[in-house]
Amino acid sequence: MTDVSGQGSRPGDERPILTNRQGHPVYDNQNQRTVGARGPATLENYQFLEKISHFDRERIPERVVHARGATAFGFFEAYGKWGDEPIDRYTRARLFQEAGRRTDVAVRFSTVIGGRDSAETARDPRGFAIKFYTEDGNWDLVGNNLAVFFIRDAIKFPDVIHALKPDPVTFRQEPNRIFDFMSQTPEAMHMLVNLFSPRGIPADYRHMQGFGVNTYKWVDRHGTTHLVKYHWMPKQGVRSMTEADAAAVQAHDLGHATRDLHEAIDRGDHPEWELLVQIMTDEEHPELGFDPLDDTKVWPENEFPAKPVGRMVLDRNVSNNFAENEQIAFGTGVLVDGLDFSDDKMLVGRTFSYSDTQRYRVGPNYLQLPVNNAKNAEVRTNQRDGQMTYFVDTGGESPHINYEPSLLGGLREAEYPTHDDQGPDISGRLTRKRIPLTNDYEQAGQRYLLMEQWERDDLVGNFVTLLKQCDRRIQERMVWHFLMAEDELGLRVGEGLGISPDDVAHLEPLASQTLTDAERERLAHLG
Ligand code: HEM
Repeated sequence: MTDVSGQGSRPGDERPILTNRQGHPVYDNQNQRTVGARGPATLENYQFLEKISHFDRERIPERVVHARGATAFGFFEAYGKWGDEPIDRYTRARLFQEAGRRTDVAVRFSTVIGGRDSAETARDPRGFAIKFYTEDGNWDLVGNNLAVFFIRDAIKFPDVIHALKPDPVTFRQEPNRIFDFMSQTPEAMHMLVNLFSPRGIPADYRHMQGFGVNTYKWVDRHGTTHLVKYHWMPKQGVRSMTEADAAAVQAHDLGHATRDLHEAIDRGDHPEWELLVQIMTDEEHPELGFDPLDDTKVWPENEFPAKPVGRMVLDRNVSNNFAENEQIAFGTGVLVDGLDFSDDKMLVGRTFSYSDTQRYRVGPNYLQLPVNNAKNAEVRTNQRDGQMTYFVDTGGESPHINYEPSLLGGLREAEYPTHDDQGPDISGRLTRKRIPLTNDYEQAGQRYLLMEQWERDDLVGNFVTLLKQCDRRIQERMVWHFLMAEDELGLRVGEGLGISPDDVAHLEPLASQTLTDAERERLAHLG
């Protein structure tokens, strides 16, 4: 038993002694040092000052997006093949090569818009981020559960997030602000049709899909590149919640998805996902009718089959939420040999943003923390010092030589790879332009038509409920977009709002839009 009177431990108590961070034993953790029992307090009271001032600094800035999340650990096991073909035909990445090869992983699932303690029942995309601790260093695949995104150029990210976050004055998430932005962002229609369908509220983290969303590349041993998209399919199946289900869960639990994941792993019910990959030759593909580097699009699976390359099992919970969930840091720039970026304009912007925010959020030495460290590879750098330097990563070389090149020792460069020049030649004028082929409505409409009747009803109901809270001109523009995507969708949302196709037939395309021939055809018949 602790002696709450602050007179030190009682005889016979064998538990370890509490100390401060200087290693000094604490013999009174109940009372400050004061002049006499009733004060005043003194400032040389190191133990008290250390304890309180550390407490004052317990919080780091929460993630600007994806603040609420849950992390678990496990392994990825390669099949050594892409479908029936040997995988080295497409990528030389070592983690994918032999069947049965295992790589340690950390996975963080998250919501996007709410703060660190917000409800996990929100209608919101879910983050699905995997850190593979490979022998060639870390690989992060930072995706979501909906396969596409709202925008296709990273320069618009702060705007879409500001529109989705609470109003800066009322601090309420306002449909009028959200749909104001979306009504001016036709490329968002595909994402909106997904997000406001039942898929927009996954039942929990174990029962949802994951997607890399952005287009990446695979590189083979000759330097030949292919475009790829990644998909995670849960062995547990996919489950979602209706608004009513979500409200019932939220009434008694704000963190049901974190709890579900933690409890499942604790009881040995280890969740598993299969990783499937779509492959396309590394070209422009005008014949597709959409741009394969556009993250508002999916690749049709009948033309580009998603074939399995491995499976992932999560079998360990965090031992400390702050150290391993709050401080874990993922980024799209974190790739290993055999995997590469594409020129997807979101991907390049994301790649700057992640490590930039993490240097601010966690600190410049965030990669030295155990959860972020490339623990299965050798890390040897000449990077030194900075806040919270945890160790000096000389890799056993002279601590004096923290520069390169040197005749005196230190680290040397790796052999120059023979396959360094990879991918197509690129030339072009520096410019600020949309991609030429936007095709913003076709896949949104197709997605609607693929839904079952109850899913369509749910989607329309969700749009109508929120759009009813919006200004008339925002409602009209949204109905116009929906009619451009799919007649039934536009008619039904319009009906719910009292807006007919004739009411919106006068609207011109947005100044930012270049319509395809098919879209011009639809526009001509709107009224
Ligand atoms: C987290 C930026 C688009 C998935 C974040 C964070 C930033 C960010 C700053 C916080 C990171 C941290 O504090 O550690 C951006 C930018 C984007 C973008 C600038 C567009 C240009 C996307 C897209 C996806 C995505 C398209 C999905 C494919 C995630 C995930 C996280 C995240 C899963 C949470 C990672 C974690 O669990 O720690 N993003 N993001 N982001 N983002 Fe993005």
